[in-house]
Amino acid sequence: MKKVMIVFGTRPEAIKMCPVVLEMKKSSKFEVLVCVTGQHREMLQQVLDIFEVKPDFDLAVMKPGQDLFDITSRVLLGMRDILQAAKPDLVLVHGDTTTAYVSAMAAFYLQIPVGHVEAGLRTWNMSSPFPEEFNRQGIGVLAKYHFAPTEQARKNLLSEGKPEEFIKVTGNTGIDALVTTVKAGFKHEILDWAKDSRLLVITAHRRENLGQPMHEMFRAIRRIIEEFPDVKAVYPIHMNPQVRKIAAEELEGCERLRIIPPLAVDEFHNLLNAGYLILTDSGGIQEEAPSLGKPVLVMRDTTERPEGVAAGTLKLTGTKESCIYQACRELLEDEELYRTMSQARNPYGDGTASKQIRLWLEEVL
Ligand code: UD1
Ligand code: UDP
Repeated sequence: MKKVMIVFGTRPEAIKMCPVVLEMKKSSKFEVLVCVTGQHREMLQQVLDIFEVKPDFDLAVMKPGQDLFDITSRVLLGMRDILQAAKPDLVLVHGDTTTAYVSAMAAFYLQIPVGHVEAGLRTWNMSSPFPEEFNRQGIGVLAKYHFAPTEQARKNLLSEGKPEEFIKVTGNTGIDALVTTVKAGFKHEILDWAKDSRLLVITAHRRENLGQPMHEMFRAIRRIIEEFPDVKAVYPIHMNPQVRKIAAEELEGCERLRIIPPLAVDEFHNLLNAGYLILTDSGGIQEEAPSLGKPVLVMRDTTERPEGVAAGTLKLTGTKESCIYQACRELLEDEELYRTMSQARNPYGDGTASKQIRLWLEEVL
């Protein structure tokens, strides 16, 4: 039996790795160990609760105001001890967080093979998203097995010289989660509050947007809400105090906007499904929206999810107030444009990515 350690630490990694944990645990060929770094605390716990995943190890690294040095050093030293004690045959990491990169590096130092879930996403721009573009390229260098969500991601990996036989296109495991959470007849107090309005769903948290870009985003959103009386907005806000401060400065007193604590993932997915339009700088939401047929204005300068843009669901607005305002206004006024962007398409797989990962690992390990 092979010992596989699955490592994650933040909310989006948890959402996309819990389906992998549950699937891998079905196999008689693997002993599965779950290690959380605790880079996030409450937002991670919310996801573990929904999927009923109990970690075997918890580094509990989060401290308020942590910077990249804090996370890197605490995860690296913590993972050294855990990996030395548990001696897994394979470590699986996800995506592009500091947890993922540093855990992959720790495994590499101990010469333990690494599998990278959600491999091959690229903007080729080290500043956007920062530091995620470096993290995912770095994991790509260290990893042996690459689970690419799409054909485009596979091509990116091949262009970097990764061996073809170690790349497997699986779809995105985030869609595995989404197919279990979205239910007809979802009820929520926010939906009652917004029932005669067009509901905007907002999220924002990217490091490179903290500061002026985030001020501009929120100003654009405020202008839109103030100018369109039939629009309401809900913003489940990230726990980062820097985000909260900017939101308080720009959005306080904005009528028809509700700022609420982070939602559990099942509630959030259903809210996305019930909303009219999404404004976000998040990565994962760009994958979920095309499946749900919800237009997304991506408040960033780059995206590593060109499939969603090609599918017509995502539009990149940049982070300037005037550009976000204009793009949002157009979508609210032009029904034909809105309809075109609302076609449900599914570039990120059919909800079987985790199973494909399990089957492939059963073969190659
Ligand atoms: C991290 C990831 C980013 C990912 C994002 C998902 C890195 C460098 N960044 O960024 O790729 O998109 O998570 O949300 O790995 N906090 C809490 N409780 C929580 C979570 C966060 O209080 O449960 C607060 C803490 O004060 C923390 C701050 O949020 O210092 C920022 O968290 P951190 O993980 O450092 O960065 P994120 O912006 O969340
Ligand atoms: N999400 C959630 N609750 C919320 C907001 C978002 O569960 O209140 C989910 C969302 O559906 C997506 C993931 O969190 O799956 C995105 O996380 P985030 O935006 O923090 O990180 P990113 O995807 O940008 O790395």
